[in-house]
Amino acid sequence: MNTILSAAQSRPSISIAFLLSSALLLTSCQSGSSSVELTHELAPFPSLMIDNGDGFVVIAHRGASGYAPENTMPAMELAYEMNAEMIEVDVMLSSDGVPVLFHDAKVDELTDGSGNLKDFTLQELQALDAGSWFDEAYAGTPIPTLEELLIWAQGKMTLNIEIKTEAYREALSESVEPRVIALVEQYDMADQVLFSSFDYRILARLKELAPSIPAAVLYEPVQSARKGPVTVVNSLQADGFNCSVREYSEQWQQELTQSSIPVLIYTVNEREQMAELIQRGVQGIFSDYPDVLAEVAAEELPTP
Ligand code: G3P
Ligand code: MG
Repeated sequence: MNTILSAAQSRPSISIAFLLSSALLLTSCQSGSSSVELTHELAPFPSLMIDNGDGFVVIAHRGASGYAPENTMPAMELAYEMNAEMIEVDVMLSSDGVPVLFHDAKVDELTDGSGNLKDFTLQELQALDAGSWFDEAYAGTPIPTLEELLIWAQGKMTLNIEIKTEAYREALSESVEPRVIALVEQYDMADQVLFSSFDYRILARLKELAPSIPAAVLYEPVQSARKGPVTVVNSLQADGFNCSVREYSEQWQQELTQSSIPVLIYTVNEREQMAELIQRGVQGIFSDYPDVLAEVAAEELPTP
């Protein structure tokens, strides 16, 4: 079942209150922008393995990265213990084409190595220490492969797999998209993952190769060419809209709500900001502190 999308449609008190309160403001600031209609059917969002039924998704950003080194297995374990409902990870490719979890283009800040991640073989990457930079208690923690994460998460945790632009290769056979899709299919996890990317070339390929696996736009202003969120979602045949809390506006909220497009907002670590976004009716928030976000969500949303 489309848990997140149905959540978007089943919280009328928040949505209607918001729409009414913002109607005047929108009329005055839309500057001629007309409402844009969704042109395609949205692929159902993944089912949540952990779901408290409040229609809002607590997303652990890079795992519980406030408490453990980001994109490592200890951060995944902690997110699970904290009842995160989804975990977001960043995916790149080793020089020998293996999808691994890592955020930065260079390994310098997050490991004891130096250089571009894409120049390391998997074996070289796995010899790096991806934990000491965070805390000596995590010394020796390795960079995980995506496959390792999928094996851990199967039937246990819903994933948002964000694919970084560094993993894009012009030749499709060498690029990240078919490799990630093959892994998701190998472990039968098509209904347990949401893809996303800031790179619209990657998104277009994902939707072409695996249209039934949901993929969310990660809003990127240059590629969006000043178009509104629904137009961007339409142009990529995407199934959701993820964006920075700094970019997200009330006008966008209204446009996306009207089209029932799920909205996930990153990265929010302050309680007040979490509460405000939840009241606005977003479907999920990415936080480095999923335990704090879960507490705020419990305060703000009626439990069913
Ligand atoms: O996917 C949401 C968020 O992770 C995007 O930004 O830079 O933290 O990967 P970044
Ligand atoms: Mg990310």
